[in-house]
Amino acid sequence: MEVLSPMEKKLLLELEKHGGEAKPEEIDMELVKIMNAASWLQSKKIVGIKEKLIKEYEITEEGKKFLEYGLPEKKLLSMDNVTIDEIEEKFGKKDAKIMIGWALNKKWCNILKKDGKKYIIITNEGRKATSQPEEEALKKIYNGDFSIDEKIASILKKRRAIKERERISRSIYLTPLGWNIIKKGIEIEEELSQITPDIIKSGEWKNKKFRRYDVKAFAPSIYAAKRHPLGQLIEKIRRIFADMGFKEIKGGYVESAFWNMDVLFIPQDHPARDMQDTFYCKNPKEIEVDKNLLDKIAKVHESGIDGSKGWGYSFDKNKAKKALLRTHTTVNTIRYLANHKKPPAKVFSIERVFRRENIDTTHLPEFHQIEGIIYEKDANFSMLKGILKEFYGRMGFKEIRYRPAYFPYTEPSMEVEVQWRGKWIELGGSGIFRPEVTKPFGIDEPVLAWGLGLERMAMILLGLNDIRKLYFSDIKWLQTLPLL
Ligand code: PHE
Repeated sequence: MEVLSPMEKKLLLELEKHGGEAKPEEIDMELVKIMNAASWLQSKKIVGIKEKLIKEYEITEEGKKFLEYGLPEKKLLSMDNVTIDEIEEKFGKKDAKIMIGWALNKKWCNILKKDGKKYIIITNEGRKATSQPEEEALKKIYNGDFSIDEKIASILKKRRAIKERERISRSIYLTPLGWNIIKKGIEIEEELSQITPDIIKSGEWKNKKFRRYDVKAFAPSIYAAKRHPLGQLIEKIRRIFADMGFKEIKGGYVESAFWNMDVLFIPQDHPARDMQDTFYCKNPKEIEVDKNLLDKIAKVHESGIDGSKGWGYSFDKNKAKKALLRTHTTVNTIRYLANHKKPPAKVFSIERVFRRENIDTTHLPEFHQIEGIIYEKDANFSMLKGILKEFYGRMGFKEIRYRPAYFPYTEPSMEVEVQWRGKWIELGGSGIFRPEVTKPFGIDEPVLAWGLGLERMAMILLGLNDIRKLYFSDIKWLQTLPLL
């Protein structure tokens, strides 16, 4: 009893007054309050709510004419032995057709052909015709009584005299539990359901009775709007790098092979350049590259730079111009360095890359990379390890592992792995840019670089078995996901 609100109590008393069951419109309370209280009481099994679909009718403009002037076919009854031509002349072709049609249907008349003319002959039945069931029904509807014969209703509908509409009629009734509560006696007293600063300050709370809360009462879940988990993660990563003093940079989806690969000393016959691995564009098919820079990089590939021997093959400048969807965001950082040759620099980007991968539980053809560099005097490999450990630590990974790796543009190179379900899983690559990458731009201090997968990490943080889930708009999953 103590968990019932004053409104609920009031409704129970009202129901008792009506003998245990009443329609909302019969109860002396505001409708919204009734329905509100009723639904709470229903969830506590104190009342039940019955619903019934009720048919109602509405009289149309046509129907109103029938009510006022009677059914059109009745006017025909005074037209015994008159030709159809004359009737049409008197009432107009359209109305004449309706009158004659219904009169024939009701067997009130016959048509007689004589001397090439058609006459209306009123039958005995027609002569006896008085008040019609349609008219009776219309009168009833007019008076708000909808209990009319189904057949007549359907005729009136067909004659477009009435329209049907449906309404749900509800009635609220006391359950046995409800009756029990009533029998114990319900008292409505003033209760406080909310505490305010004023109530505390004035000391009013001391003499007031507080409403007891039923913490187990059912309430529908409300899901606050929030960003998609990937969006939230990106936001969090941005923060982490910004906090560590990094600046965010951005790039474009479409790049030349030159910037995506050649300047990074990726040999032109590298398998990753294959149509199998890279999406090449049809339009634009090629992107122009600065001539001087192209010559310079061609030489680096062919014969090296500053002590390097290069790859020793003959560089194809047309291949360098090919347009493609960037396969990694390392292109963002090398473009940045090309324009900011003076150290120090700490930049990062979190952007989308594209690869011809077959989609499965751990692979997507479009995904994001968390890319970054530290470019400064005396930067070294330990710093690289430290920054990655710090980043993953802030993302919640206690344990990370480094493994030697190979990238054409870094030396030394390493991969970062984290623990996932008892296994080590690779999350990204990193290393120090080779002289073949930095020297052509006149960059003399070390550049620590990394490119880490976002979706793989998201999968682990969100406990997913399938990376694709991140891109299904599964609203149930999204709603119940906690904030990251
Ligand atoms: N670009 C590499 C990849 O896509 C990652 C990487 C970035 C490696 C920078 C070394 C340095 O996997």
